[in-house]
Amino acid sequence: MCGIFAYLNFLTPKKRGEILKTLVNGLKRLEYRGYDSAGVAIDSACSKDMALIKKTGKVALLEEEIENRSKELDMDRIEDIHCGIAHTRWATHGVPSEVNSHPQRSDYAHSFVVVHNGIITNYKEVKVFLQNKGYKFESDTDTEIIAKLIHHFYEQHPNYSFRELVENVVQQLEGAFALCFKSKHFPGECVATRRGSPLLVGIKTKTRLATDHIPILYGKDDDPQTPTDADTNSEHRPHGRADYPVLPRSESTSEFEPLEDKQVEYFFASDASAIIEHTNRVIYFEDDDVAAIKNGALSIHRLRRLYDDPHSREIHTLKMELQQIMKGNYDYFMQKEIFEQPESVINTMRGRVNFETKTVTLGGIKDYIPEIKRCRRLMLIGCGTSYHSAIATRQLLEELTELPVMVELASDFLDRTTPVFRDDVCFFISQSGETADTLMALRYCKQRGALIIGITNTVGSSICRESHCGVHINAGPEIGVASTKAYTSQFISLVMFALVMSEDRLSLAGRREEIIEGLKNLQQQIRAVLQLDDKVKELAQDLYNKKSLLIMGRGFNFATCLEGALKVKELTYMHSEGIMAGELKHGPLALVDEDMPVMMIIMRDPVYTKCVNALQQVTARQGRPVIICEENDDETKAYGHRCLEIPRTVDCLQGILTVIPMQLLSFHIAVLRGCNVDCPRNLAKSVTVE
Ligand code: M6R
Repeated sequence: MCGIFAYLNFLTPKKRGEILKTLVNGLKRLEYRGYDSAGVAIDSACSKDMALIKKTGKVALLEEEIENRSKELDMDRIEDIHCGIAHTRWATHGVPSEVNSHPQRSDYAHSFVVVHNGIITNYKEVKVFLQNKGYKFESDTDTEIIAKLIHHFYEQHPNYSFRELVENVVQQLEGAFALCFKSKHFPGECVATRRGSPLLVGIKTKTRLATDHIPILYGKDDDPQTPTDADTNSEHRPHGRADYPVLPRSESTSEFEPLEDKQVEYFFASDASAIIEHTNRVIYFEDDDVAAIKNGALSIHRLRRLYDDPHSREIHTLKMELQQIMKGNYDYFMQKEIFEQPESVINTMRGRVNFETKTVTLGGIKDYIPEIKRCRRLMLIGCGTSYHSAIATRQLLEELTELPVMVELASDFLDRTTPVFRDDVCFFISQSGETADTLMALRYCKQRGALIIGITNTVGSSICRESHCGVHINAGPEIGVASTKAYTSQFISLVMFALVMSEDRLSLAGRREEIIEGLKNLQQQIRAVLQLDDKVKELAQDLYNKKSLLIMGRGFNFATCLEGALKVKELTYMHSEGIMAGELKHGPLALVDEDMPVMMIIMRDPVYTKCVNALQQVTARQGRPVIICEENDDETKAYGHRCLEIPRTVDCLQGILTVIPMQLLSFHIAVLRGCNVDCPRNLAKSVTVE
């Protein structure tokens, strides 16, 4: 939700036009995180003021606005040292509008500006405090209090450094945030921090840095402390006091250790896709890190040191390639990602499934397998598509592990304050690794002593870092808001886990072999399913102006119904429902008549006869379903309905193939309805708010 991008060039001369281009391109890469308004702040061309350019709508409109104002912005002037911050928004507080978009400012003179990802839950309280001090608010956002609060601290303590001012601000904030600040009082400096929202910095130098670590500087004394109630910050809030108490000064000039290469560029961003075209050297920030750049040097500061805190943050080398985040020959990211599945499923299995020895190794959880085998139950927790991947694999997990398997929507799991025990094993499934509900559920289970396993697609994400162990699904960057290749890779990751858990079970050897053989054939079978694209497009022509679409199935294919319906809803804004075929006569059958579009998934698996019963119930009510069935299944085709035939695979892997026509169908309907395929309305890729 929302994308932050900031760019600082130090002793690296850049035209203002280039700086703005870098900022706007960064936003374009992050647009999938939120796209209802966007803005940038750079130094003014002619005074010590700042230029704030904001626009409602997509980043392209902001780009147009910058173009229109190019004269005033003096695009050719060269800046040796400069800091610019930028933001693309997914509205939480206040409608999408220019005044509500970021950067938010402290005052008309732009003393401080800030971009924010997340939600400040105590913003009303802080707002009242600031209003009592005479501050006038112009927006409906929670973010504006941050800009004004730092201004308030600055007015009181003009000798404080930029970093110290930010530290005082975050002491007062509750909720989740990633923040990037710029100030006209601190030209050429940038301060960024996070709590519960992702943030990283890319470092670009002319020569490769000798160091792989940036030291962390701790406030107070440097002695490690055990966490206390004071760490919740509550002691620092005003609670009726006249003002916020401020932290003692701590900055010394030595804390900013210049890098050996003085010419340096820094790129702060919500995720790595915005950085990879500039550098592959990044630092992922942890909650409560305050990163400051001054005189071209980066320092990372934390207020207090707890026992398990490290001494430095590592500079990681990104493995991502630029072409992975480009559309290539496709018109839409979603389309590209659907068609990448023959490769992405192989990447998920690479180095893990040995088709010759018929063995599976999951390096990330290998050492924990004995502990997992002793557990009381498995819990699979996620949201949206990630939750569906858990539904898709539950039956196989039950079969191969013989353990009780609970599948939970993260939000509901938390609402119920579900009992969790030390001998539970909890899986957190998330493409982004940043979904707030899933992350909260993870922390809830961790506090109760359960073993935490992350199944994510984003290296360095919060879920990744906070899990005890995990499996990277390696699907490659997924940019389209609708999840496609991540689903099939999550599915395969969980299947591989089931195989690992059953490796020493002689009675299951045959079943395991059959599944491993199925995995081996998947790539070519997915290619075959993708050949249906034209047929699916024709079907989309017939469906795109309908109001509703029911998708029915059961057993291993029920998850495809839920996932297919979710894709149709989010991309086409049509009503769609995934229906468990066994439930038809308990209500949904009442929806069926000759006009209601219905799709049914009928495969030659153990529930085939039951699915055929459902088909008869539907046709008896004049329903005319389109059937997804197995290639050459003459018996099913003999019912005379329109069929999409897909290759046969082992029952527990069918869902990987049956979901692809549904992905294609939702995509084509969305195109025909003129919907924004990659950025559906009201949604964002990474849901970092509860
Ligand atoms: O990043 P996550 O996998 O945790 O995201 C969970 C859901 O928000 C996500 O799957 C969402 O449902 C997709 N947009 C569906 O296509």
